Amino acid sequence: MDLLFEGVHWIIEIILLIFLFLFLWVCVCVRSIRYFWKFPMPSSMGNLIAAGPYRNRAQPPSMIIEAIGAKPGMTVVDLGCGSGLYTVAVAKAIQPDGVVYAVDIQEGMLEKLRNRMKQDGVENIFPILADAEGHIPLDDGIADAVFSVAVIPEIPDPVKAMEQIKRLMADNGVFAEAELLLDPDYPLRRTVIKWAERAGLTLENKVGSAFRYVLVFRKEQT
Ligand SMILES: C[S@@+](CC[C@H](N)C(=O)[O-])C[C@H]1O[C@@H](n2cnc3c(N)ncnc32)[C@H](O)[C@@H]1O
Repeated sequence: MDLLFEGVHWIIEIILLIFLFLFLWVCVCVRSIRYFWKFPMPSSMGNLIAAGPYRNRAQPPSMIIEAIGAKPGMTVVDLGCGSGLYTVAVAKAIQPDGVVYAVDIQEGMLEKLRNRMKQDGVENIFPILADAEGHIPLDDGIADAVFSVAVIPEIPDPVKAMEQIKRLMADNGVFAEAELLLDPDYPLRRTVIKWAERAGLTLENKVGSAFRYVLVFRKEQT
């Protein structure tokens, strides 16, 4: 019996090691490719990041809600909203009269967001198809808060995207940028801080650890 138990244990360990190895191998390959060639996560993979207990635990929406100090009545921009896990959570936190402008470069992602809005009965979200590196069709200073989860390192020129974010921020507005180590595009905190400083943003707060973090920025006062 003991021998059988040991055998099963051994097989499980081998399977876990194989998964770990495959995961690391995929990360190395994806990171190497993306170093030279940046592209948005395909919208066909939108359901992968949609929710599930794992993502909710690893990178809970409450981290963003707290980081931006979400309150009813706020105007918020979610840059690179994807299928809307964080968009919908923030939209609920700023009801009844707050709005979220949800920006994404892929119509397929916005379609997934619209489905989620219907499912959750949330109406205070306005999806916008736009490239964060170009001109986002929103007025200067419109946002009390801008947030972005696992997006900035996907963008070929992150400083240009952060300059757009700065343009959208109200004078006392905040920008929260969140990353998770398991993301193949994961950047170090100091890299994100360097990009933000180049765009004219000042670090105000760091939350979490190297595994998952949220950095909170304000506009540099001139
Ligand atoms: C990894 S997904 C994260 C989605 C969502 N923030 C989340 O955490 O569930 C990155 C998202 O950023 C969007 N994206 C990438 N580059 C973009 C750009 N230049 N402008 C706007 N959105 C962009 C992608 O289409 C994708 O939906």
